[in-house]
Amino acid sequence: MRIGILTAGGDCPGINAAIRGVGKTAILEYGMEVIGISSGFLGLINEEYVQLDENLLSGILTLGGTILGTSRENPFKKGNIINAIDKPRLIKKHYQEMGLDALVCIGGNGTQRTAAQLSDAGLNVIGIPKTIDNDVWGTDITFGFDSALWIATEAIDRLHTTANSHKRIMVIEVMGHHAGWLALYSGIASGGDIILLPEIEFDINEVARCLKKRAINKKPYSIVVVAEGIPTPKGETAAHYVSTNIENLTGLETRETILGYIQRGGSPSPMDRVLATRYGAQAVELIAEKKFGQMVSLKGNTVTSVPLAEVGGKLRLVPPDHSLIEKARKMGICFGSECSNPRT
Ligand code: F6P
Repeated sequence: MRIGILTAGGDCPGINAAIRGVGKTAILEYGMEVIGISSGFLGLINEEYVQLDENLLSGILTLGGTILGTSRENPFKKGNIINAIDKPRLIKKHYQEMGLDALVCIGGNGTQRTAAQLSDAGLNVIGIPKTIDNDVWGTDITFGFDSALWIATEAIDRLHTTANSHKRIMVIEVMGHHAGWLALYSGIASGGDIILLPEIEFDINEVARCLKKRAINKKPYSIVVVAEGIPTPKGETAAHYVSTNIENLTGLETRETILGYIQRGGSPSPMDRVLATRYGAQAVELIAEKKFGQMVSLKGNTVTSVPLAEVGGKLRLVPPDHSLIEKARKMGICFGSECSNPRT
């Protein structure tokens, strides 16, 4: 069999570990040929690809980014109706001309939606869920999230010392365009006092009240972790909106830090290396069993799969009643609403 691999959407640590997991399993266990497709779905449209062999797969387990390159190309985007007809048709034509028996799509929500559409169009497709946002429906976790969590937590740990030296409030913006998983987990892991998520409506006056109360209780500084996707006036970053309002409403000296793309760079964490490897191997097992139209997933500690039709484009958001939020509230962490913990 000859299988194609592509990586699409925002990059993250662990993608190369997944490529390696697919490639080595396919070549060594099943004698398959493996074709690496460049720049996500663009590579299928423009016929840009390379045969992957053991040499090309060597040394990439710990390498950040993606050796294949990526793009946010959506071949089904309705922007240009001609393209919307041509691109999927071109992809199917090139898939056949390349002699592919299956296509592995490594990506987030958008990628899995396109993978589902290509599966509906008759291609043999397997999805692998990847994103630092951890917001792909159908799996407990995506690889990329643990690495970004390590990066964000280490950065926030560092901000504690400078906040304490200057007796300041530090506002840190982490990635997470729709879902607040990274803000929730890094906020708790790094001892954040206030955590703002897109999924929980917050009142900036409540945030200010909570911070003033901390100051009255002689807390020397405060750490505020915000997801980039919280609602703010158009064009204003989450960090800037929150920090300027805190300073104006409380009179307390406040500084902002946006971690940005640092969270997507560098070598994957050990957990992401293992998870990406497990996902890659599982994808090849599904292909060998001819179980197409699936996305590999983790349920508990079991690697399994779910139908792409159930996943395509659906977001896995943080439930406002998540047990982690409930426990955090009981420890006095404020989410910008209902912070009236009688004892704080
Ligand atoms: O989807 C992952 C992500 O990093 C989001 O957290 C972020 O909002 C977005 O990608 C940034 O997209 P781009 O890399 O296209 O600027």
